[in-house]
Amino acid sequence: LFAQQTTVVINSTSGTTINKNIYGHFAEHLGRCIYGGFYVGDTSKTIPNTDGVRNDIIDALKKLKIPNLRWPGGCFADTYHWKDGVGPKDKRPTIVNKWWGGVTEDNSFGTHNFLNMCELLGAEPYLTGNVGSGSPQEMADWVQYVNFEGKSPMSDWRKQNGREQPWKVKFWGIGNEAWGCGGNMRPEYYADEFRRFATFMTDWGNTGGLMRIASGASDADYNWTETLMKNIPVDMLGGLGVHHYSIIDWGHKSSATDFTEDQYFATMKSALQMDELVTKHAAIMDKYDPKKKVAMIVDEWGGWYDVEPGTNPGFLYQQNTMRDAMIAGVTLNIFNNHADRVRMANLAQCINVLQAVILTDKEKMILTPTYHVMEMYNVHQDAALLPVTVKTNDYSLNNQKLPAVSVSASKDKSGLVHISLVNIDAHKAQNINVDISSLKLSNVTGRILTSSKLQNYNSFDEPDKIKPAVFNDASIKANTLNVKLPPFSVVVLELK
Ligand code: AHR
Repeated sequence: LFAQQTTVVINSTSGTTINKNIYGHFAEHLGRCIYGGFYVGDTSKTIPNTDGVRNDIIDALKKLKIPNLRWPGGCFADTYHWKDGVGPKDKRPTIVNKWWGGVTEDNSFGTHNFLNMCELLGAEPYLTGNVGSGSPQEMADWVQYVNFEGKSPMSDWRKQNGREQPWKVKFWGIGNEAWGCGGNMRPEYYADEFRRFATFMTDWGNTGGLMRIASGASDADYNWTETLMKNIPVDMLGGLGVHHYSIIDWGHKSSATDFTEDQYFATMKSALQMDELVTKHAAIMDKYDPKKKVAMIVDEWGGWYDVEPGTNPGFLYQQNTMRDAMIAGVTLNIFNNHADRVRMANLAQCINVLQAVILTDKEKMILTPTYHVMEMYNVHQDAALLPVTVKTNDYSLNNQKLPAVSVSASKDKSGLVHISLVNIDAHKAQNINVDISSLKLSNVTGRILTSSKLQNYNSFDEPDKIKPAVFNDASIKANTLNVKLPPFSVVVLELK
C-alpha cells in the first residue's frame, strides 16, 4: 500500500556544519545507568572491564562515535558533592540518591572514573555542577581540580589521587532543571545565580575557552529562555539548554512495549513537537544573540514510558521498540536541520535508563533499535548541512495528522552525501522522489532499520531481532533519486 508521492528537494549548501555534539549522550546516577550499567566495580571477575567500566559497552559506544557524555545528572547533579567521589574509596562517604529510588551509593564511581572513561570512549565530558545545594566555591574547585596544570591545592590533590595531567574539560553545566529539581528557582533568580557561579569558574587556558551552559527551559517555557537571554550577557553564556521528552501524558505514560496505534501516534506527535520548540526557542535567542554565538543544547530528549513490570519505579528502566527508532530518527533530523543553532544534544539516557542505546542484564548486553539509528546517522557528524524542502503526505489517525516523512541531508569532508529518511506511518509505504540536481551524483547505496511490528524490540533472548539491513529500494535516474520507504522505517542513503 503506497501513499501518494512525496517530493524532496536537496539544496546544495548552507554554510552550516552539523556539530557532531548533536549526537551526544547522558549518563546520570540513576537506576542502573552507572552502577550495574557502565560500571561493574573494580573487582568484577565475570564481566571483562577496564578500571571497572565494561569493555563491551566501551566497544559499542566507540562504534557509535559517541562525541560527548553528560554526567552526573540530571536531578542527581544538584545533590552531588564531587569531593566525596575522589580519593581512597574506603574513605568516601555514602550518598543517598534522593531523586532516584532512595538508594544509598558508595561514591565509588567519581570524577576520575568518569573522566578516564570518557578518554577510553574518545568522548568529550560534559560535567554538570551543583547549583541547587552547592556553592560557587565547590564548583570553582571542581574546575581547578580537573583543568589546572600548575601547582594549586586542587591540582596537587588530583595528582595525589593518581592523575598528573589535567583532563581539560570544556563543557560545564551550571545546574540542571533549576526551575524544578535543581532548586525550584524563578528564571530571574537563576539568571543571577548563573552569573555568580560562572564568574568563579576560571578558564585555565587549556580548553579553548570553557563553555558555560545554562539550565534551560522545560518544553514550551519560552519565558524561561527569554528571561535568561535578557539577563545573562551573551559573552558569559556558551550554551543554553532545553529539555523535551516524548511523552503521552505524565500521569499515564503507558507501557514501553505494549502500546496501541493511538498511543504510538500520540508519542510521535510529542516527538515532532521538538521542531516547534527548537524553532521558537531559537527565535527568542536570535533577538538577543543575532550572531548565534550561544549554542542551543537539548541536553535531555527521548521517549519516556512506564518502567518494565517488576522493576524499581525510581530506576526508569524501559524497553526500546521500533517506536523509539522513529523518535530517534525524526528528532535527529530536526536537530540536523536546525544545526545553525542546535550544536549539542544528549539523549536520555545512555544505559538502562529511559530511551537507552544499550541494555544490560548481568554479563549480557544488547543494542536497542535507538542504538542502530544513532549508528546509522553518525555519518552526519561534522558534515556540511544540505538544507531540504519536503512536501510530504500526512500520517492520519482519528482526524489528526502528522507529517509522515522526515528528511535531513549532509555532505561529508570526502564529498559523500548522506540522506536520512524516516516514514512514521504505521501502515503506508512512501514513494519519494528526491530532486538531487544541485549535487550531480549517480550512485546510491543504503541501509534500513525496520521490523514486522512497531512493538518489536531486541531482548536478551533475541538480541538481533532488529538491526540494520542493506536497502535496495533506492535508484537514481536523471537527477532524481527515487526511494520506496516501507512503513515505520528509517533509511540512511549514501550518494556519490
Ligand atoms: O532523565 C531523567 C530526569 O529527567 C533527569 O534527572 C531530569 O533532569 C529530568 O527531569
